Formats: sequence, structure tokens, C-alpha cells
Amino acid sequence: MKTVFHPSRRHFLRGLTWSAALATVPGLLAEELVRTPRQTEGPFYPDHLPLDTDNDLIIVNDSLSSAVGEITHLNGRVLDSRGEPIRNALVEIWQVDNNGVYLHSADKHAERDRNFQGFGRFLTASSGEYYFRTIKPVLYPGRTRHIHFAIKMKAHDKWTTQCYVKGEPQNEHDGIYKGIKDPKARESVTIDFAPIKGSRAGELAARFDIVMGFTPEA
Ligand SMILES: [Fe+2]
Repeated sequence: MKTVFHPSRRHFLRGLTWSAALATVPGLLAEELVRTPRQTEGPFYPDHLPLDTDNDLIIVNDSLSSAVGEITHLNGRVLDSRGEPIRNALVEIWQVDNNGVYLHSADKHAERDRNFQGFGRFLTASSGEYYFRTIKPVLYPGRTRHIHFAIKMKAHDKWTTQCYVKGEPQNEHDGIYKGIKDPKARESVTIDFAPIKGSRAGELAARFDIVMGFTPEA
């Protein structure tokens, strides 16, 4: 029997795969799958790594003193363009300390908090989840509050973005933030830093899901 190539049938199958994939992701609706916009790495990716690069940015190694700032539990998932979790993605974050200073030798505009790690890493497991304990980012000259993210995966170039604090008035005056023209894309990187109920220390929780523009097989 001869195999006949039929373009419309191939199209139909692809459509089926798409809806089947969505059906397997609980709580994720098609309209929520907004690709996270890629944004500039900026000039302050650490030029020297801290002594400790784990996912707890509040404590450097086994120091007895912790960083100053509003403690934030930051988590989320790294997803592919169909909403499937991506495993073995190395998630890196870096941000300023409570004085607005990066872990970078070129940033000398204020005293750096030696107890703040400034940078951390987390490798996703099969759930695609990552987790960091850090501080709510503060303002520094020229920028609104933000946390930098880099995603490193085998066979892909380093991918960078930034997340922002919902309700921060400075967002509207930030050139990089406003450079994200699509309102849905902008919304996807603007996240709540919400007080955790019952936390006497006033700790916050923030969730930032990252939707990459590809599937791992692609
Ligand atoms: Fe920055």
C-alpha cells in the first residue's frame, strides 16, 4: 500500500497533540500559557561567584547572621511552550541586597550587605519546580524592583529574564519593564509578593512560572 502525504491530516494531528497536552496540565488553561518575555541580562551578572551558590540567599555558607531585608520565599515552575514541566533546567537568580548593591565589583555606590548571597542556583526536578529563599528586591538608582533570572539548559543558549513586584509605582517609570510592549507578557513577569499568613517575621511568598518558547524535543 502506498503512503499518501496529506497536509491537512498532519495539521489535524498536531492540533490534537496540542489539546491533549493542555488537558494533562491541571489548573493551566490555554489562555494562561503566556510565553515569558526574554529580557536583557543587564551589566551585573556576578563577575565573581559567591562562596555559596545554593538556593538560600539569606545565609552565606553556615554563617550565624542572616541578610537584612524582607524575607521572601520565591518559587515557580519552568515550563515548555505546551505547559509541560522542564526538568534539569538550571535556574539562576541574582539581585541587589537591601542597600541596592549587586555582588559585582563594578557596583560600589553603597556598602554591600556581606550576609546577602546576591546569587543562587537551583536545578529543576521532574516537576519543573524551583525554590529560593531571598529578599524582596529594593529600588536602586535607575531601576524599579526586580530579580534577574537566567535559565541554562543543555543544547540551548543561556536565556535571561527579570520579574517585577506587582503594585510597585516605579514600574511605570522603568525603561526595561516598559520595553515589554505586550500587556499579557508584561503581566506574566509582574508578580505578587504576598505576606504569608501567620508569619510573625512578616515573611513573603512570591510565585513566578517561566514559560519557555520551545519544547525540549524541538
Ligand atoms: Fe538589575
